[in-house]
Amino acid sequence: MEISALQKARYAYRPKLPAILTAPVSEIAVEFGAPTESVADQADLRALFKHSYGKPIARFVQGKNEKITRKLTVGVILSGGQAPGGHNVIAGLYDGLKKGNRDSKLLGFLGGPSGLIENKVIEITDAFMDEYRNTGGFDMIGSGRTKIETPEQFAASLETAKKLGLDAVVVIGGDDSNTNAALLAEYFLDKGEPIQVIGCPKTIDGDLKNEHIETSFGFDTATKTYSELIGNIERDANSAKKYWHFIKLMGRSASHIALECALQTQPNICLISEEVEAKKLSLGQIVDQICDSIVKRAANKENFGVVLIPEGLVEFVPEMKQLIAELNDLMAHYADEFAGLSGFEAQAAWLGKKLSAESAKVFASLPAEIAKQLLMDRDPHGNVQVSRIETEKLLIGMVEQKLAELKKAGTYTGKFSALAHFFGYEGRCAFPSNFDADYTYALGFTAFVLIASGLTGYLSSVKNLTAPADKWVAGGVPLTMMMNMEQRHGSKKPVIRKALVELDGKPFKAFAAKRAEWAVKTSFLFPGAIQYYGPAEVCDQPTKTLILEHS
Ligand code: FBP
Repeated sequence: MEISALQKARYAYRPKLPAILTAPVSEIAVEFGAPTESVADQADLRALFKHSYGKPIARFVQGKNEKITRKLTVGVILSGGQAPGGHNVIAGLYDGLKKGNRDSKLLGFLGGPSGLIENKVIEITDAFMDEYRNTGGFDMIGSGRTKIETPEQFAASLETAKKLGLDAVVVIGGDDSNTNAALLAEYFLDKGEPIQVIGCPKTIDGDLKNEHIETSFGFDTATKTYSELIGNIERDANSAKKYWHFIKLMGRSASHIALECALQTQPNICLISEEVEAKKLSLGQIVDQICDSIVKRAANKENFGVVLIPEGLVEFVPEMKQLIAELNDLMAHYADEFAGLSGFEAQAAWLGKKLSAESAKVFASLPAEIAKQLLMDRDPHGNVQVSRIETEKLLIGMVEQKLAELKKAGTYTGKFSALAHFFGYEGRCAFPSNFDADYTYALGFTAFVLIASGLTGYLSSVKNLTAPADKWVAGGVPLTMMMNMEQRHGSKKPVIRKALVELDGKPFKAFAAKRAEWAVKTSFLFPGAIQYYGPAEVCDQPTKTLILEHS
């Protein structure tokens, strides 16, 4: 296969590790804290996770670890959406295993969790691994969104693990995939099988974080990639002075990506879904806010600008949230009946009778295209596929209508020409930034130490990330500690709690302090492309979110 000059150069990059992980492996010991509790619903979760609930936090310290050099066979799964650095988690895990014992084996499950269920596997060798070091993408073994949930799927996973003689499975995934990892760990324990399960925190969305997981990997590279593109668009807007760009940004429910990109690029407007929910803003009020900036800028003869929109926005607008919750329940409870309806007209008529009066009114008021997008298939975890709802176009349409009214009333005399963009897939497979390359390699190596030390039901954790890598702190966080019960597919299920943007957090406050100025005055910031080689202040900076959260 032909490779680019950058890919060739990146093969030679040596990821930086926390000091503890550079010691001989037999000198990395595990220290345990006190037993833990889940973030909510303790009684329900204790009952569901009889064997794995409440384990203590694990931290690596210098000391003797006799078990660590035994021969191991480990299977690894890439689960869910791509995130830059996935290959380096595998590399860190692989190198750790080989450092522990040259005869240890790493097997990659193909195509995500279904690879475990269906026993589709490939052995990772030195040569195979070397082709993927420090590269983006998940193409080394592929990914998938299959959820291991039925008794048959759990039994098939166990059968595969036994056939392959696995000591452990590593799941590299987001909140839903790591919920699956927790359930799998519990299942193996319940069956008395000594197969361990360890998770690694992946997702560009940045919503898998807490006191012990400072950020999920991929967020750094993805937000830097989007910010480069937003900065370029801002410069174009400022050059041509004729377009308003409405840019929807991936990130599912949470607005971490939009907020980080706003801090990096200083657009005129950035909507934050969590604030929309807290202030109970209607779509009409959001449109008024956008128009306010457009009108003020037009008065300064600046008929151009940039608006950032988090992709989950519609789920946070109270009337839309209610509608989506009702749609989710109806589509789950009447799955067969709904599937039997032919075409949108029939679906809309059926929903008209089943939805509450309020939600039926909202549904009927939506442009047909948006209403259709709300009815698309849910993902295997029961989530609406927000990346497919064209909120940016919905807002442009509503803004045009409002501006026409303002023009009639004589309060607006500018020109409005808008372009819609969606940045999502562009950022998920970029070459990992130095930060993500180092962080993921450390997460993979940490997963090895957790396995070799006999732990199960843990998420690999590397902390103190705003310090230089040698000062990072490695260990493991029990998966049940991050869980609560949520409504999914029409019933209560255990899930890892998503971290949403905190309105009293430092990143949001830093943005809120500046946004009134950015809304009127052109204050664009152009971060440029990710740099892999050069001075540390250009190449090794973590995200502004991480810096502010830990300042
Ligand atoms: P994960 O939660 O699996 O990391 O996926 C994140 C994400 O990129 C979201 O931002 C986006 O809404 C979704 O995946 C898109 O899913 P798909 O890749 O299935 O289109």
